[in-house]
Amino acid sequence: MEPLLEKELVSLEARNVQSVAGGVAFSGGWEICYRANLWSRIASRILWRIGEFDYSSENDVYVAAKAIDWPQYFSVERSIRVNVTAQKSPLKSLEFVTLRIKDAVCDRFRDALGRRPDVDRAAPDVRVHAFLEEKKGALYLDTSGEPLFKRGWRAEQGEAPLRENLAAGIVMLTGWQPGEALLDPMCGAATLLVEAAAMARGRAPGAKRGFGFEKLKVADSRLWEKIREDKTRNIPEKPLELSGSDTDPEALKAARRNLAEAGVERWVKLEQIDVLQRAAPAAEGVMVMNPPYGERMGSADELAAFYPKLGNVLKRNFAGWRCYIFTADLRLPKLIRLQPSRRTPLWNGALECRLYEFKIVSGSNRS
Ligand SMILES: C[S@@+](CC[C@H](N)C(=O)[O-])C[C@H]1O[C@@H](n2cnc3c(N)ncnc32)[C@H](O)[C@@H]1O
Repeated sequence: MEPLLEKELVSLEARNVQSVAGGVAFSGGWEICYRANLWSRIASRILWRIGEFDYSSENDVYVAAKAIDWPQYFSVERSIRVNVTAQKSPLKSLEFVTLRIKDAVCDRFRDALGRRPDVDRAAPDVRVHAFLEEKKGALYLDTSGEPLFKRGWRAEQGEAPLRENLAAGIVMLTGWQPGEALLDPMCGAATLLVEAAAMARGRAPGAKRGFGFEKLKVADSRLWEKIREDKTRNIPEKPLELSGSDTDPEALKAARRNLAEAGVERWVKLEQIDVLQRAAPAAEGVMVMNPPYGERMGSADELAAFYPKLGNVLKRNFAGWRCYIFTADLRLPKLIRLQPSRRTPLWNGALECRLYEFKIVSGSNRS
């Protein structure tokens, strides 16, 4: 996803955009920070780096964290939470170093004001992140708050929904353009369809939610209001033809509610139909889907029997379509009996997945 995120950040006029492990670094003023939070469909969080240090012990981390003027960034009334991520860190307990950073923040407040902020692990106002490498560490303030894939439109989970930012990335990787037909024949709670419609209509993914930076003292509320007003981008009105289907009526109920919450239901036609009975809604277009996978849904044997049938349907009914299947099941290309023209490795949380592209040409079923 990093190349897509880089592209997004460049289009938002971020500076020094550069892929780093697990993310993309950039610089810029508050305007860029606000815009990235409001408009990025790919990022999970936008973190503001406020300190860097060398360390070899928990105490070094404490001293570095205490050196930061926390009361300058947020008021003592705000609740806090500290998160630590480490790679090759020599420290024995991440829990202990997390406590030490929390102590450093609180001690700094107590020295300055005689009071300290409360900790709220579930719904903190301010999140402090620390990243520890072997010898170096960095401290960040989270400008997003809740992760950015929480867009505020999800009324229903459905079964095993994709994260919104992963779904948006998958749609981007298909190269689908508004004006082309788009079909998700195993749509579940319609995450891919909502993200595609929001993208096509230029809806800001963060339009319906709040952000961590609103709780920081340094935030410029007038500038934020100005950026927030521009929730939709001026984009040419192209006809939108989105279709979704699923066998499960509960999934379709969830899909309907989510599409309505996101305000995009008028562009999406939903039907209850088995993908194996599915006809193409247009002569050509883009199909994207995320079949059940894993212990909770569909056993390995069931899926092994399902893929060849799915392959037959694609060949028989979807000539002229580009089909994209997102799955963690690496047996799929062999069992579906179609040659993928592209395979993009992606992570779904800790699960290694692929987005397989199949270009279906008429007559390919003859082989
Ligand atoms: C992993 S979920 C899709 C989740 C969806 N991408 C989302 O983000 O909400 C797979 C979906 O496939 C549906 N499904 C399973 N077998 C199907 C079939 N033969 N035809 C159509 N849908 C099917 C399930 O009901 C389920 O909703």
